[in-house]
Amino acid sequence: MTDLLDAEPEGATPLTPEEREGLIPAQVTLRRELNELEQQNILEASLWVTGRSRDPVSEAFARNLHRRMFSQVWRWAGDNRTSNKNIGCDYWEIDIQLRGALEDTRTWLAFSSYPADEIAVRFHHRLVAIHPFANGNGRWSRLMGDTLARRLGRPAFSWGNSTLLDDDATRRAYIDGLRAADRHDIGPLLAFARS
Ligand SMILES: Nc1ncnc2c1ncn2[C@@H]1O[C@H](COP(=O)(O)OP(=O)(O)O)[C@@H](O)[C@H]1O
Ligand SMILES: [Mg+2]
Repeated sequence: MTDLLDAEPEGATPLTPEEREGLIPAQVTLRRELNELEQQNILEASLWVTGRSRDPVSEAFARNLHRRMFSQVWRWAGDNRTSNKNIGCDYWEIDIQLRGALEDTRTWLAFSSYPADEIAVRFHHRLVAIHPFANGNGRWSRLMGDTLARRLGRPAFSWGNSTLLDDDATRRAYIDGLRAADRHDIGPLLAFARS
């Protein structure tokens, strides 16, 4: 069993020592225990978010959802990260990048620039590329994408039908899809999201 000081699974962002200090439950030492606490917290947030149709394309909603997903586990839930990562923009650009992503998404919606699923997947990709938070960016941005899909009358995505934490092949297909999207080819990520 990996403990919290060991390397993260591939494609997960390592935490800085300060971020680790933001851990609320004092008794947690194992990665598995942390995963379980996060899962429970996320489940509650998922119930809240699916309770009725919600518009996720606002900064207030975006932060609120991350806070609801992780506030029982991380003190910095909903707050911008304060250091740079190997993924994501420079941390001092997070607010401006986030506003740009939300504005672009609102434009796609207003002009029906793409089909509904594609707008929601592009929204997810833009959000996770910014990587606003110290952790939880993948799970938060997928739930953001799901929320927009549902708002547009589509079902939530399956995202490869796995938790992405357990299955290497699924995780690889997902990361490959994100990388293709970085190169302006949304096709593979769009296919993955409904696989
Ligand atoms: N090479 C990459 N390019 C783009 N996005 C990536 C890459 N690797 C990981 N990601 C995204 O970052 C997420 C991991 O970030 P993290 O903040 O740890 O989220 P979580 O804790 O929810 O897994 C992945 O789920 C994926 O969405
Ligand atoms: Mg993580």
